[in-house]
Amino acid sequence: MLCTAKEVLKDAREKRYAVPGFNCVADVMIRGILDRAEQCRAPVFLMIYTGEIDEKTWWYYPTVIRSVASRYTIPIVMHLDHATELNVIRASLDHGFTSVMYDGSSLSFDENVAMTRKVVELAAPYGASVEAELGLVGGFDAMESEHVANILTQPGEVEAFVERTGIDSLAVSVGNAHGTYQQLPQLDIALLKELNAASKVPLVLHGGSGTPDDQMRAAIENGICKFNVYTDIRVAMWSRFKEIADEIRRSDPLPSGYIAQLQEALGNIVEAKAALAGALGRG
Ligand code: 13P
Repeated sequence: MLCTAKEVLKDAREKRYAVPGFNCVADVMIRGILDRAEQCRAPVFLMIYTGEIDEKTWWYYPTVIRSVASRYTIPIVMHLDHATELNVIRASLDHGFTSVMYDGSSLSFDENVAMTRKVVELAAPYGASVEAELGLVGGFDAMESEHVANILTQPGEVEAFVERTGIDSLAVSVGNAHGTYQQLPQLDIALLKELNAASKVPLVLHGGSGTPDDQMRAAIENGICKFNVYTDIRVAMWSRFKEIADEIRRSDPLPSGYIAQLQEALGNIVEAKAALAGALGRG
């Protein structure tokens, strides 16, 4: 069933677990994520990444998700990831997204507050939740077009940001980064603790791929209630794709066979991340 982020993250914060969010860019990914999450009874965020949206046809995914979600019993948050344009956010709310992320991380503090506030006002009549980012989570975007340096979130800015914007969750920068890490990340757990103490709303960690499990567990213990995963999915599906491409002998293999293999590789990541999050059996 479709839920807002606010409902799902409230439970996670109270019970000190996290809900994993998975980026998906194809129908087979939607199904692969939802089937495995349902099997292990884990709540999930299905995230559509604005950077990979084709403006003319992107309505397709929310339409599919909306129509299948009621067949699943787990809480599903349909989330727009990294939106910077108000018209995209408005269109996504019209398409039934229950949660949107406004990414004002490249703006000044005051501009970020002003724009995020606008998004909160836009989302309110739809009953949708809003995630925002304070500080800047760098790394590679999905296109690997450029590498951006992190700017850590300042604890002194958190309370005012949350208060003035009215957001439901806050993405923080504590050493995490998007994409493949060039060297192992070192999350600043002491900083995260301070941010969590200053924040009235649940915290979110972007760039959840490639982070050692012990660091992820420490992050969840210290306030992370949602973490985003995309690179690990891409790597798992691509590795399986190469293995099966080598094994397949037919020149006209049945798609059901190899698509199921890709969904299994994806499902294994979903289950492993849900287990790491402490989300198994919560949905
Ligand atoms: P990774 O690709 O590093 O897992 O990050 C995903 C993400 O944060 C999407 O918002």
